[in-house]
Amino acid sequence: MDRFSVSKLTSPLSGEVEISGAKNAVLAVMAATLLSDGVSEITNVPHLKDMKTMSDVLRVIGCHVDGESHTLRIDTRGVNHLEAPYELVKTMRASFYVLGPLVARFGRCRVSLPGGCAWGPRPVDLHLKGLEALGATITVTHGYVEASCDTRLKGGVFHFPVSSVGATVNVLMAATLAEGSSVLHNAAIEPEIDALVDYLTDMGAKIQGRGTRTLTIEGVPELKPGKGETIPDRIEAGSFLAGAAITRGKVKVTRVNPEHIGAVLDFFHDIGCEVTTGSDWAEVDARGRELHSTSVTTLPFPGFPTDLQAPAMAVLTTVPGISIIQDTVYHDRFTHIAELKRLGADIHLKGDTAHIHGGKPLSGAEVMASDLRASLALVIAGFVAEGETIIDRIYHLDRGYENFEQKMAQLGANVIRLQG
Ligand code: UD1
Repeated sequence: MDRFSVSKLTSPLSGEVEISGAKNAVLAVMAATLLSDGVSEITNVPHLKDMKTMSDVLRVIGCHVDGESHTLRIDTRGVNHLEAPYELVKTMRASFYVLGPLVARFGRCRVSLPGGCAWGPRPVDLHLKGLEALGATITVTHGYVEASCDTRLKGGVFHFPVSSVGATVNVLMAATLAEGSSVLHNAAIEPEIDALVDYLTDMGAKIQGRGTRTLTIEGVPELKPGKGETIPDRIEAGSFLAGAAITRGKVKVTRVNPEHIGAVLDFFHDIGCEVTTGSDWAEVDARGRELHSTSVTTLPFPGFPTDLQAPAMAVLTTVPGISIIQDTVYHDRFTHIAELKRLGADIHLKGDTAHIHGGKPLSGAEVMASDLRASLALVIAGFVAEGETIIDRIYHLDRGYENFEQKMAQLGANVIRLQG
């Protein structure tokens, strides 16, 4: 398993970095291609492990997936196996996205339940209840979800009791091919949902309410293959800006949509960084600044994203005073605390709330990445920890950050990959 070696930086992160396409947006769109018969195209696709896993899922189903550079072409004409196996779904939960499109287009499918993840159970009950509201019959046996319907799903009304990105993706995709109209209340409004609505609309889907919590879908008998460009990765952008803040540097992220990271930019502003934005860039300048403690609560969009909770915590370990972070989206997403403590951070966790007694000196140690965003938190903490930090299990980080070492090198940080 590869590891990273990171040493304390001699000068803060500085410079400009171009942000890649959003992996979470691509994953939904890749599944959506199953709603049509033909060759779909997606551009600005990042080169990441998750894209490969989703390609493998689609190949098992019978699709031909190829492409060059950052363009992906998915040919669904060979679909012949309506099943997503455990081996793939367990490595990436978003594989579960094929459930909605397959049952909507073929009237049946069998998809493995994803199981838990490092920080908690992560249920899929709302995906299933939403599909049932569209007339699907769902059974769960031997760890697999079997979904079926007569000839087509039927339009229905579903109210998501909590805002769920994944469940909205699955049920929305299914509703596009249902007979009649569907209304989804309390749908997620993350930018990745808007991106999916745009792609589905390009395929011929009839969806109203984009960007709002009520989506109305007029089902159509068939969709055509789509073509679309992936939106920028707002979490990658926030991660590099966290690198600027923790090292008291200055980083400009380009090819981003600042509207997607409003709450994140507010956080950097609140702790005392200078934040500047343009139409497609954002910059955080923390040079020579005394940063101050704050309180952060993660929430569904447009709130502060749970995916940047761990990087924000790393930043706050370097800020004098007591900061508070509450994760209301994933109450248990705190496995990084034990690792940050190994670097000397003083953090106390009670329920879903962490108290960070910041400003204590950090010292390099061997630590273990427990998930994608926790890995990033450990890398940037390593930039300010005395000596060397070795981060194990960086395969997590490889799932979500394209050309990570090169991008960090561009900003002046030497992240060394130790292979083995
Ligand atoms: C997606 C993102 C992930 C991000 C998360 C929250 C992808 C591939 N992943 O994950 O990076 O951290 O959104 O922004 O886009 N819930 C249920 N039942 C369900 C589904 C969800 O109770 O059937 C709950 C979850 O436990 C959680 C909340 O809803 O408390 C939000 O989860 P959800 O938005 O579904 O997260 P994901 O789509 O899995």
